[in-house]
Amino acid sequence: SIDQKVQELLEKMTLEEKIGQLNQYTGDNTATGPLTINPNKQQEIKEGKIGSMLNVIGYNYTRQYQELAMQSRLKIPLIFGMDVIHGHKTTFPLPLAEAASWDLKLIELSARIAATEAAASGIHWTFAPMVDISRDPRWGRVMEGAGEDTFLGSLIAYARVKGFQGNKIGDINSVMACAKHFAAYGAAVGGRDYNSVDMSDRMLWETYLPPFKATVDAGVATFMNSFNDINGIPATANKYIQRDILKGKWNFNGFVVSDWGSIGEMITHGYCKDDKEAAEKALIAGCDMDMESNTYRFHLAQLINENKVPMSIVDEAVKRILYKKFELGLFDDPFKYCNKERQDKELNNPEHTRIAREIAAKSIVLLKNEKNILPLSKDTKTIAIIGPMVKPKRINHGFWAVDLKDVDSTYIVSQWEGLKNKIGKKTKLLYARGCGVEDTSKAGFQEAIDVANQADVVILSIGERWNMSGEAKSRSNINLPGVQEDLIKELQKTGKPIVVLINAGRPLIFNWTADNMPTIVYTWWLGSEAGNAIADVLFGDYNPSGKLPMTFPREVGQIPIYYNHFNTGRPSINEDKIYKSSYIDLPNTPKFPFGYGLSYTTFKYAELKLSKQKIKLNEDIEVTMTLTNTGKCAGEEVVQLYLQDKFGSVVRPIIELKDFQKVKLEAGESKTLKFVINNDKLSFYNQALEFKSEPGEFNLMIGTSSADIRLRSTFELIH
Ligand code: IFM
Repeated sequence: SIDQKVQELLEKMTLEEKIGQLNQYTGDNTATGPLTINPNKQQEIKEGKIGSMLNVIGYNYTRQYQELAMQSRLKIPLIFGMDVIHGHKTTFPLPLAEAASWDLKLIELSARIAATEAAASGIHWTFAPMVDISRDPRWGRVMEGAGEDTFLGSLIAYARVKGFQGNKIGDINSVMACAKHFAAYGAAVGGRDYNSVDMSDRMLWETYLPPFKATVDAGVATFMNSFNDINGIPATANKYIQRDILKGKWNFNGFVVSDWGSIGEMITHGYCKDDKEAAEKALIAGCDMDMESNTYRFHLAQLINENKVPMSIVDEAVKRILYKKFELGLFDDPFKYCNKERQDKELNNPEHTRIAREIAAKSIVLLKNEKNILPLSKDTKTIAIIGPMVKPKRINHGFWAVDLKDVDSTYIVSQWEGLKNKIGKKTKLLYARGCGVEDTSKAGFQEAIDVANQADVVILSIGERWNMSGEAKSRSNINLPGVQEDLIKELQKTGKPIVVLINAGRPLIFNWTADNMPTIVYTWWLGSEAGNAIADVLFGDYNPSGKLPMTFPREVGQIPIYYNHFNTGRPSINEDKIYKSSYIDLPNTPKFPFGYGLSYTTFKYAELKLSKQKIKLNEDIEVTMTLTNTGKCAGEEVVQLYLQDKFGSVVRPIIELKDFQKVKLEAGESKTLKFVINNDKLSFYNQALEFKSEPGEFNLMIGTSSADIRLRSTFELIH
């Protein structure tokens, strides 16, 4: 068995070799230049002092590193980790955008493809999925998660792990997944990256932990802890989080890696006085591998000699890591993932491109289409496409895309190219940049106006720069940057029909545009097939079906804003603000709610039936309803089922997503949908933090968004 092999190997290892396994360094081939390996690193690998490398990719480069490891005394192979966050060569929409598809099968498939390409480039391990719930769009890393909702986020977390890891770790087309950032990183105060988190245990268990638990249920191989402190204890040395919950209660048997330098940063946190204490606290708390802090490497031996860290804890960490190396099959063939033919084939697989286009189209959210300008006719004579996002290619990848050395960017379809691919010979496409994303100058406006004046339709592509969201990209102001909204105002004066495309990695605030422009499409960053996917939606070859996975605020002052809040003792109903929980200068409601998104067709919700109106503990209720496509074209609808537990021993949210189905219907077609409500869906963490249901009345709501409920009923749970 693997356990036996791990034990036998462990017994042969010196303390120095054991510590080596806990040590991860970065390579340097994501930068440009020749593939060279730093001579010091070469030496350390040959001495068995490094267990894993990150940022080393390509069959060739990983092979060179692995050859060095094969010169070490025990020939323990390296594992290569990489941030394969939303695709590898073929890039998919940002994870937040992809969440807007609510399409779990496709989300799993995109991770599967990313894994196939990464594994063919020598990678064994991705630092994904990021499963941090976040209710704060100022935080730049919302682009990397699944949004604000725990239920949707948990299903997506599960799907992504399954996608990355495939049937089993060690399959040639799979990589190990890594659930990050453990834990509560998405709740950083003020939306500022790396900032502190202060949170009740109930909120932690109810809102922030379930997506992590879902990854454990999916068999995730590794976890990464987080930069933040939680209630005063840095997550990296947080025993409650890592030992008690993850390795204890959840029985997680993989290993935990620190975030980049997060062990050393505990000195700056003011939690450890030096690297040695940081190493001691991190390892004892359950952090098995040190990414780039060098603290285990230089201090663990002494800590063991001084009896500050028991040998059993080092052994446990080493065993967890070795186990994964055996599971990956690296002891049988350390070069298993280094194969030129496979890399060439998988990095140029047209099927990957096709699926990237499909999921990109499904991630687009139609925010407004008041005058039915969309879909555009393919007979349109002249289209002006204007804005800073139209021509560049690389931007469409968004943040966290790996710049592969051995491929150029010709495979990325810009928005300009996408439209060109779509239109026939009779349509003329005009272009003007108008302004840059953050420009303060309006010098390019006149050219844009001239071009718009010659067109039948204007497509205006604006937003935030691709790298304004991502790690360390928090913004205190999430409005459309620069003079872009002024450009819209000027173009509106031409009287031409205008389609506004908004490209971003987070919910933005664009109130003037939202109030004055009839046609708005939220395109996020959609990956390598962005241009084609946008053209598919604009011309109706794909009928948009995306639904927002995060609430869009009216103003930054509303943040944190989320749909599943408590009622309070003084809710502001119908904008009544007199001594109510409200702002005197703003409604409480968002600009666009969670779950919102339009289609080119319309859907009717009818015939809600509950199998029972009263249930006993552990009895299920079957809920049925009929959905009809009442419009003129086929379309997909995400039918969302929400519950409210009216009274509880702790207060409950006014509305909570508990189920959904994405359904495709032809024009005029009807379908009966069935949902099952079981005890789990009625349960919550009570005062003793037990996950239980309580007797009483529940409201059931089915709708097309969290703020557009079409069917309602009630039922009662009796214990
Ligand atoms: O995986 C990332 C993490 O999410 C943020 N810090 C760096 C890591 C490795 O690149």
